[in-house]
Amino acid sequence: MPSAVTGVIHDLERILLTPEQIHARVREMAARLNAELAGKVATVVALMDGGLFFVADLLRGLEMPVRLFTLSASSYHGGTATSGEVKVNWPANLDLRGQDVLLLDDILDTGLTLSVIRDRILAQEPASLRTCVLLSKRRQRLRDVPLDDAGFEIDDEFVVGYGMDYQGRFRNLPCIGILNPNKPS
Ligand code: IMP
Ligand code: MG
Repeated sequence: MPSAVTGVIHDLERILLTPEQIHARVREMAARLNAELAGKVATVVALMDGGLFFVADLLRGLEMPVRLFTLSASSYHGGTATSGEVKVNWPANLDLRGQDVLLLDDILDTGLTLSVIRDRILAQEPASLRTCVLLSKRRQRLRDVPLDDAGFEIDDEFVVGYGMDYQGRFRNLPCIGILNPNKPS
């Protein structure tokens, strides 16, 4: 690994998933979609920035024609009385009616973000909707999100790398890891 990356890895308590494990699983996820969406055009709705690497790797494994739309979403939840608010920058020209939609995100945590986006997609009456995430945390969700595929189920711990950040850092790690609580330098 490049030295800039090995330096960052010292901020990790442990590596949860190696690049090899991630890539093997993403290839399996692509193979499944190739079978399910054969002969169709996939309209991919991908959440940024966390999904950047997952989406890039998955899409390179897809064999059907693909249209790609990226969305940014931010959610505010936790210690308040409200159940959460999700802000999405929704492209004005995004018309999903009759399309075979593939919704992709890095990680399913509380479920708030994906449930809001799924509802908006379904309101446009697509022909089909598949929701796939790379990681699904084992925890109680604030909103239930039906997943068609999840790369890995993980414990309820904060992870970084392969697109996912802590305060804007660590997205460029090729692995996925748990932060060292004493460290982030
Ligand atoms: P949800 O709305 O709580 O399901 O939040 C999902 C979003 O929060 C994901 O798309 C991630 O961007 C972010 N997120 C949740 N858990 C983690 C984590 O452990 N590490 C990094 N980002 C996370
Ligand atoms: Mg995200």
